[in-house]
Amino acid sequence: MKKLDVLVIGSGGREHAIVKSAKKSPLCGRLVCTPANGGIELDCASANIKADDIPGIVKFAKEGKFDLVICGPEVPLSMGLADELRALGIAVYGPNKDGATLEASKAFSKNFLKKYSIPTAAGENFKDFAAAKDFIMKSPFDVVIKASGLAAGKGVVIPETKEEAVEAAREMLEGGAFGDSGREIVVEEKMEGEEASIMLMVCGEDYIMLPPSQDHKRIGEGDTGLNTGGMGAYAPAAVATPQVLEAVRKNIIAPTLRGLKSEGIDYRGTLYVGIMITSAGPKVVEFNVRFGDPECEVLLPLIKSDALEVMNDIANGRLDSSKVQIKDEFAVIVVVCAKGYPNSYKKGDVITLPKSEPEGAYVIHSGTKRGANGELLTNGGRVLGMTATGKTLREALDKAYKLCADTHFDGAYFRRDIAHRQLERDAK
Ligand code: AMP
Ligand code: GLY
Repeated sequence: MKKLDVLVIGSGGREHAIVKSAKKSPLCGRLVCTPANGGIELDCASANIKADDIPGIVKFAKEGKFDLVICGPEVPLSMGLADELRALGIAVYGPNKDGATLEASKAFSKNFLKKYSIPTAAGENFKDFAAAKDFIMKSPFDVVIKASGLAAGKGVVIPETKEEAVEAAREMLEGGAFGDSGREIVVEEKMEGEEASIMLMVCGEDYIMLPPSQDHKRIGEGDTGLNTGGMGAYAPAAVATPQVLEAVRKNIIAPTLRGLKSEGIDYRGTLYVGIMITSAGPKVVEFNVRFGDPECEVLLPLIKSDALEVMNDIANGRLDSSKVQIKDEFAVIVVVCAKGYPNSYKKGDVITLPKSEPEGAYVIHSGTKRGANGELLTNGGRVLGMTATGKTLREALDKAYKLCADTHFDGAYFRRDIAHRQLERDAK
């Protein structure tokens, strides 16, 4: 069996999970991550090329004769990284620029959803403020306002009143909020329901549906306070019942993959379908073209099959989804962040990690780096992710929280109620 030389792009918890998962595979030869972080560096070799330095990555991948590139974040994909690598004959896990437009342009995504009759919020795209204002004032429903372009998860405003909605539209279209990303907006119906993340590993029209997950976007317990990149996640999330998942497969995934094919898009990589489970069934909130972070950290450990082999098969256009097995277990991640996050926070504090990791539990690094003497320092808002699997959700949570309790740095904060919705459901 020829081993694969693998290059992972990115530097967060998601990429650390990808590296850990790839490393376990008997197929894994050389493994390099760029630009990596203080924890990834201990698990594999690293390089110092930024994730959005497309020429730099392409040169490195070519000269290093890598067999497979796995791209973690959306930005390089939307800049055409996968197209350039594929043109050189390097297999890539991650869609080309055309597929990445599903995330990079919410306006494109809205048009796509409408064109293929995929359930989603009713809405329209606008570049002109007067037209957007008119639509908002006349719409019979409460609206949400979305910057069309990439905004690191922050481009959505959920206004309380029509006046607030108009103001949000004005700020984006005329005030330069979100820069170029806000030059076009989507105004859509506010949906009511519980959200879940459905992560698919897609190879053209074949795909693997990973267990449904839920992340916790808000900073505070009880899902209060400011939005963050995600303070924790768990899977499987039982709110996505077998009936809901059946409806997702039939009404959302099937037409989406057919639509991509009709548009001439050969999609190879993760497709993240954010859904709202409404009284009228599941509807699409958003598409992302990469693994969620922190969802990735709970989903990769639940793949029983060799995840690297699956990604390599997809990258080479030969997935056989019927062979891929998923574990009958639970997985959780509790994110430990820096004091002040998601507002300003300091960096460079010394981190003390747990001396040992319980069986099936481990520390994922997000915003960490090594100091001059090799010491581990904080280097971001989300610093670490305590990840664990277990036969029950409770078992997984207990292990993850044990790791949290044994981790120290100045101002370390984590939510103590990760997976509370599921625990409340289980208690009923
Ligand atoms: P997005 O970046 O489109 O996923 O939006 C970020 C978050 O905003 C979602 O996870 C939802 O919580 C919320 N959101 C987006 N669109 C809607 C909608 N149409 N109705 C209600 N909430 C929404
Ligand atoms: N956790 C949400 C995201 O990755 O978009």
